[in-house]
Amino acid sequence: MSLNNKILVIGGSGSSGRKVVKHLENKNQNVLVAGRDETKFENLKFSNKVSFVKFDYNNPETYKAAVENVDRVFLMAAPLDSLPEKSLEPFINFLKQLSTIKKIIFISAINAERYPIVKGENLVKGSTIPYTIIRAPFFMENLTDGFMQQELKGGSLSAPVGEHSTVWISTDDIGQVVANLFLDTNNTAYNNSTIDITGPAPVNYPEIAQLLEKYTGKTIKYNNVPPLDYSNFCLSLGMPQGSVTFLSDLFADITNDNAKTVSLKVKEITGQEPKSFESFIKDNFSKIHYNE
Ligand SMILES: NC(=O)c1ccc[n+]([C@@H]2O[C@H](COP(=O)([O-])OP(=O)(O)OC[C@H]3O[C@@H](n4cnc5c(N)ncnc54)[C@H](OP(=O)(O)O)[C@@H]3O)[C@@H](O)[C@H]2O)c1
Repeated sequence: MSLNNKILVIGGSGSSGRKVVKHLENKNQNVLVAGRDETKFENLKFSNKVSFVKFDYNNPETYKAAVENVDRVFLMAAPLDSLPEKSLEPFINFLKQLSTIKKIIFISAINAERYPIVKGENLVKGSTIPYTIIRAPFFMENLTDGFMQQELKGGSLSAPVGEHSTVWISTDDIGQVVANLFLDTNNTAYNNSTIDITGPAPVNYPEIAQLLEKYTGKTIKYNNVPPLDYSNFCLSLGMPQGSVTFLSDLFADITNDNAKTVSLKVKEITGQEPKSFESFIKDNFSKIHYNE
């Protein structure tokens, strides 16, 4: 057996990364989670097939330990990073000069050609390491462990997109797709490719609010906010201008109906239909009580 058989999951304690780890763990793989915060990792209580390495893109001294016995890498930029190349380029250059890395899977965003994250895609493509780039829409888990969580606890959701919809995906489907792409080596269809992966149908914010009401039994108000007000609110929270612009471009694509095309790739790659927003809300919110 080769010693180099670990899969490195950068950001493996985060929203999408933890589901990649979970699905690899279910398939009995050796996984190395890389990140800056070990406590976040410990709280997730993975099995002993999963270990942690302190890693920071901005500290090249942490790179060597992160690739020990590793032959595949799940890679991500920090969310809404307007200069992802600053973090990713040094690490991808480091990976390039190793001869041990057989595959990179990079998580990107649908319509990436219009956002800064495309620079990450281009670095991966230029690395000469075999890759698959998966472009995802908004995660359903933004409601449970992402940027929508806090506001939702107070009984409301705000967005500058009116009743326009997007094809939200569950990170569970992302994790399953990534695990299959790493492990199904007979399937070469997605080698050196960029693919969109989405949920089963476009869903808009009023529909999400209705589903939340149905399963929590509480009132959830959707605030359709003017784009400028939304951006100013993000700035007031201390979000950097570059990230605010990135987020407002994501919302503009939703408003322009550029982010509502369903992809069949989840079913093709995993053999299962992607999770619907209703199942996600049923699974996560039936026992949660807001506005109390
Ligand atoms: N959320 C969405 O709706 C969505 C949709 C499409 C695409 N995406 C993209 O998917 C990727 C993952 O998003 P996510 O929501 O899963 O993010 P997340 O939950 O915020 O997780 C990001 C992870 O990156 C790690 N990280 C951040 N800065 C780092 C650094 N300097 N060095 C090393 N690790 C670092 C963090 O771990 P530590 O804190 O332990 O360092 C964290 O676990 C992002 O690139 C995002 O743009 C997100």
